[in-house]
Amino acid sequence: MVKVPDRYFRPYISSEEIQQAVEHIALEIGRAFEGECPLFLVILNGSFMFAADLMRYLPIDCEICFVKVKSYSGMSSMGVVEELIGIDVPLRNRPVIVVEDIVDTGHTLNAILNQIAHQQPSQIRVACLLHKAEATQYPLHLDYVGFEIPNKFVLGYGLDYDGLGRNYNEIYQLDED
Ligand code: IMP
Repeated sequence: MVKVPDRYFRPYISSEEIQQAVEHIALEIGRAFEGECPLFLVILNGSFMFAADLMRYLPIDCEICFVKVKSYSGMSSMGVVEELIGIDVPLRNRPVIVVEDIVDTGHTLNAILNQIAHQQPSQIRVACLLHKAEATQYPLHLDYVGFEIPNKFVLGYGLDYDGLGRNYNEIYQLDED
């Protein structure tokens, strides 16, 4: 168990399982985009670790751009999505892969996909490490998913609880007992 800062979390997905899943996604993307040099749009803050590992396993050329939205605080999604900031390259006519740490309600990803679509990329794909399908309120198509998980709060491997816990190599789940 870990205590962050006042709640207990128990080990849920090990570092080895995460690495295997990330490598699998990277190789799938590599096969699908061979010769295409896709642009990865990484949604900060939570996706930084997932994106870094994904890049390490990716067998093809690519570009990467880090973008930011602010839509979440504490343990429940507020459903308020602010503007996507930080896209500093044109997306028009090129393949874009959105990299998300976790899709919960789907508000964030839905808003991001709408904004990206305005810029007319040739393709838009989504890679997310975790998906809480029970919580998702939009008909989103997720192309690459690491783990389908139940609707319980998790932290570690980039994901935080009130700013803490992002540095863990594994993923922990809130212990509700
Ligand atoms: P959504 O808009 O509800 O899909 O939430 C997406 C964002 O909320 C993610 O990018 C995370 O930053 C955050 N989030 C959702 N669920 C969790 C969780 O269980 N732990 C930590 N952050 C979460």
